[in-house]
This record gives sequence, C-alpha cells and structure tokens, in this order.
Amino acid sequence: MSLQTSYRFIAPFYDVFLERATREARRRSLQRLPIEPAKVFLGGAGTGLDFPLLPPQHDYVALDITAAMLTKARPRSVGLNLALVQGDSMALPFAAASFDCVVLHLIVAVVPHPAQALAEAARVLKPGGTLLVFDKFLRAGQVAPLRRALSPLIGQIATRTDVVFEEVLAAVPELNLRSDEAALAGGWFRLIELEKP
Ligand SMILES: C[S@@+](CC[C@H](N)C(=O)[O-])C[C@H]1O[C@@H](n2cnc3c(N)ncnc32)[C@H](O)[C@@H]1O
Repeated sequence: MSLQTSYRFIAPFYDVFLERATREARRRSLQRLPIEPAKVFLGGAGTGLDFPLLPPQHDYVALDITAAMLTKARPRSVGLNLALVQGDSMALPFAAASFDCVVLHLIVAVVPHPAQALAEAARVLKPGGTLLVFDKFLRAGQVAPLRRALSPLIGQIATRTDVVFEEVLAAVPELNLRSDEAALAGGWFRLIELEKP
C-alpha cells in the first residue's frame, strides 16, 4: 500500500489523535517564522493542523500528496494567503530558491527517502533562508530495537520510526544546523532549525 492510499484512510481520524498532542510543539516551531512578510512553504501539510498557528502576514504554499488530507486542510486555510498544492515532497514542483522559509512538520521521517525530501526543501529555499523541522528521530547509535523493528511495516502505512536525523542532514551539506531541541516523548520528537547559508 502506498502512503497516499493509507493517508486517505487516516485522514478522517488524523486530527483526533494528533491535534492536541502536537499543538504546543507546532507553536514553538512556528514562532521561529520571520516577522517580515515572507514566502513560506509547508511540505506534507496534511490536514493543516499548523494553519491556525500561522502568522497572517506571509504568503504560504502548502503541499501534500494525499487529496483527502488537503480536503481536510482547506477550511483551515481560510483567512490566510495560502495555496494548497497536491504533490510529492521528494520531487517538488517549484523552481530553486522560491521560498524564504520551509516548514517540514511530521514529513521528513514519513517519506521513504528522508534525505531526498530534505534536499528538495533545501533546493527550493533561498540562500539565507530558514528550514523548520518537527519530527521523530533516533540519535546516531541509539539502539531502539522496537522502533527499528517496526519501521519497515509502519513505514509503509504511516511513518518510519528508524530515521536518524544526523544521517539525513549529512546527506544534505547545503544546510547548517542552527538549533535542535527536544519536543515530545522524551526527545524522540525534536524541533530542529536549519539554515541555508
Ligand atoms: C504525519 S502526516 C503530517 C501532516 C502535517 N504536516 C502535520 O504536521 O500534521 C504526514 C503527511 O505526509 C503526507 N505525505 C506522505 N508522503 C508524502 C510525499 N511523498 N509528499 C508529500 N506528502 C506526503 C501524507 O499525505 C500526510 O498528510
């Protein structure tokens, strides 16, 4: 089953499980958006749980591969200057250096090739831009036997659970780490800020 298919079935229930549990982490991440009006890209935007937390002065493009998730997101986009696009985070339909800021919440560890998604985000980010990541990552060398064992199965239907962020970042040398903070679940979920010099 593709992720696009599984998220079609997950879409009606997604907010029930994720909305309250992730709200504070999203708020912490999105408060790093710039004050000045900017072009902001949200990759794998899902049902738009970030949208109510977005400051109104920016121009937003939110992309997701699953039409059912975008349908849930649409009402949340009202009042924002926000375009919804169906597409693949690993092959973005945008020119290089299109955005001042990229938000990748719960998408880097979801896709089958996290480094490709991060490289695409880096490509569409302008030099000097900021990239905000919120997701679940293992540390290099972390044993985590259950998460590593479950990942091949759960990765087919919802998310990988074996992604080591340091390995992903090492594959995208055009990005620098600015900060890395624990967010949820004892630091499994992290808030990471990157910059493209
Ligand atoms: C865990 S949800 C996260 C949604 C949202 N970013 C959030 O924070 O709630 C993962 C989302 O990634 C989307 N997705 C999966 N593979 C994708 C891909 N290759 N390109 C774009 N979106 C994808 C799914 O449709 C789903 O909406």
